[in-house]
Amino acid sequence: MTIPTPALSAISDSTHDDKPIILAYSGGLDTSVAIGWIKKATGRDVVCVAVDVGQGGEDLEVIRQRALACGASAAYIADARDEFAEDYCMPALHANAMYQGAYPLVSALSRPVIVRHLVAAAREFGASTVAHGCTGKGNDQVRFEVGITSIAPELTCLSPVRDLALTRERAIEYAEEHKLPIETTKNNPFSIDQNVWGRAIETGFLEDPWNEPTKDIYAYTDDPSFPPVADEVTITFERGTPVAIDGEAVSPLQAIQIMNRRAGAQGIGRIDIIEDRLVGIKSREVYEAPGAIALLTAHRELERFTLEREQARFKPTIENRWTDLVYDGQWFSPLKTSLDAFIADTQFYVSGDIRLTLHGGRVTVTGRRSHTSLYDFNLATYDEGDSFDQSASRGFIEIVGLSTKLAARRDTAYDR
Ligand code: ARG
Repeated sequence: MTIPTPALSAISDSTHDDKPIILAYSGGLDTSVAIGWIKKATGRDVVCVAVDVGQGGEDLEVIRQRALACGASAAYIADARDEFAEDYCMPALHANAMYQGAYPLVSALSRPVIVRHLVAAAREFGASTVAHGCTGKGNDQVRFEVGITSIAPELTCLSPVRDLALTRERAIEYAEEHKLPIETTKNNPFSIDQNVWGRAIETGFLEDPWNEPTKDIYAYTDDPSFPPVADEVTITFERGTPVAIDGEAVSPLQAIQIMNRRAGAQGIGRIDIIEDRLVGIKSREVYEAPGAIALLTAHRELERFTLEREQARFKPTIENRWTDLVYDGQWFSPLKTSLDAFIADTQFYVSGDIRLTLHGGRVTVTGRRSHTSLYDFNLATYDEGDSFDQSASRGFIEIVGLSTKLAARRDTAYDR
């Protein structure tokens, strides 16, 4: 069967130079087929950039070779694992980022770091167009394209799956016809995106929200119903960032990796939710983020211990806005930058140790200690050594309650 040639008119890029097009390459079917698809539609070379954000799985050199075998004129691997952990996952940790109270922004965090590397490649090759393999229904197309134009307004984006009608069926046909070195099985119905902060699984039978996830969809977590013996771990933070686990110094990347293993073994961090996408669709999403959930739990508790009360009460407002912005692809926006400054300031005293018990799908805080906490034993204690002047509470309550007391008197007078 002949594959229809994508229409040139469908290309949003109007600058017909002879520079290559930079493609965000994952090694999967869609982006592998996209290489030839774009070349045919534009007559230009394609340079592939695969960004390592700790997704694990396939060897990246194999992926690079595949890009070349599929027709890329050049292919690069960018090792962004430490950068991703330090500059993207840690800010999310400081922001206690949980979209709609449940999703720790796994994919949303990786897009901006990928964008940075795509833009760097575009500059290196003098390219004016950057392509990605997202569909036209999700958040990721927004994150890539808004991200790219937020840091490189001179660039144009090309989305072959959306703009050049590269459907999955056509991709499979194309790959088979051109004998591309890529598995074209129709059996894996899931769309999976993973990085060191977690893993997202969508589509397939999960599209029926009543269907229970089957055991085989998980890769970062073991079954929490059959856990090994409980695991106790102490995480040391400095200014909101984990710096040691059980006394051993770790980098942010190592902290996430170690907690992925240990919390993953206990089945912690499985999330099954209906989520609101930016494009207006409600979608069923399954995630697993064992390390992220353990670290977020510990970090949030350390903030309870160290933040001043009004900071602690106010910060969630900023956290929610920050999280929505990042979810919505506004990582490089001015408001996000301003909120970063607020969040960074709050982390100044967020230092100390949190002890967790990991067991059977649950992470439980069992202890906290910090030289910078605002916990004062002598104020808190009900025992000997109490230094809190309880008589001061009387006048305090009188004044705190005055306004509602006046209102209550009026209600009585008006029989309301
Ligand atoms: N719904 C999530 C998000 O928007 C996950 C997207 C995962 N992407 C994928 N290709 N499976 O962040």
